[in-house]
Amino acid sequence: MDNWRHKHIIDLADFSLSDYESVLELANRFKSLTKTGTKRLPSLQGKLITTLFFESSTRTKNSFELAAKRLSADVQSFSASTSSLSKGETPLDTAMSYTAMGTNILIVRHSSSNVPLQIANMIDNSGKETSVLNGGDGLHSHPSQALLDLFTLAKHFNQDSPTPETIKNKTILIVGDILHSRVARSNLWSLTGCGADVILCGPKSLLPDNFINFVSSPPPGTQKDLVSSRGKISIIRNLSEGISSADAIMTLRLQRERMEDNLITNIENYRNNFAITEEVIKRCKKNIPILHPGPVNRGIELSSTILDDYQYCLVNEQVCNSIPVRMSLLYLLANLK
Ligand code: CP
Repeated sequence: MDNWRHKHIIDLADFSLSDYESVLELANRFKSLTKTGTKRLPSLQGKLITTLFFESSTRTKNSFELAAKRLSADVQSFSASTSSLSKGETPLDTAMSYTAMGTNILIVRHSSSNVPLQIANMIDNSGKETSVLNGGDGLHSHPSQALLDLFTLAKHFNQDSPTPETIKNKTILIVGDILHSRVARSNLWSLTGCGADVILCGPKSLLPDNFINFVSSPPPGTQKDLVSSRGKISIIRNLSEGISSADAIMTLRLQRERMEDNLITNIENYRNNFAITEEVIKRCKKNIPILHPGPVNRGIELSSTILDDYQYCLVNEQVCNSIPVRMSLLYLLANLK
């Protein structure tokens, strides 16, 4: 892992193929160790990890905390509702307080895009060594989710050697509310970065045409794209146009709170057109894997039969894999210095 060079993980736009290789290789090692009964490793002994979640979370927060404990780190958990935010303290000042307590890695989630980046810039300007790991910010980015999705897919295609190479030339269909999805944005960087072609599917109100240029080079904040050859992105408006060529399907949470913006007028119509059901699976390649980052709107993005009974529905596998993947991210950040 000598070539790892990121102090912070904010976005996957600046990830190279070798970064994806490092994360997947390490995650596979951590997953194998857990399987042999090794639950705790001393790698991060003496390090302090803080989960600074200003927005709610079940999977990301708890799996990061478990990953940190599995590496023997000390873990601090911030609770927005009982914090001094209620007294008017800003998120940036809150972050600096945790930095002053000596935290080595701050995992930050916020409903506004770019709060983790602002915190990382402030830490850098203050000369502190603390790393920032984006746990999901607004509509912008959710890098650890995309990396665990990548690992889950790679492992599905090759159990023993889940490398980025296993994703190359695969066609991944991403269905649903792309516009409001930070998960979809991060997956676009990682999947095309590993050479997969991505088909996006959704109604125009949730999938504007300009997503076709999403990974146009150079990525934001970089001089040049570190990935020399990316997979292609295409857009379809109708599931039946894409399902026969897909090697995997990722569905996304329909952000029902957005219904207030009248982006979806009829939930039944959405379900009929974009839900993954037994009928849809019959028209796909045999044993096609189905992923969803959670939380799931049961019966809207995925039918209960697919969620509970379909052998290749990988939703729980994604959650299980989140622990070794997040262990690998913490390990790489903590061992940079
Ligand atoms: N997938 C995901 O980010 O889930 P949580 O909101 O529960 O963390």
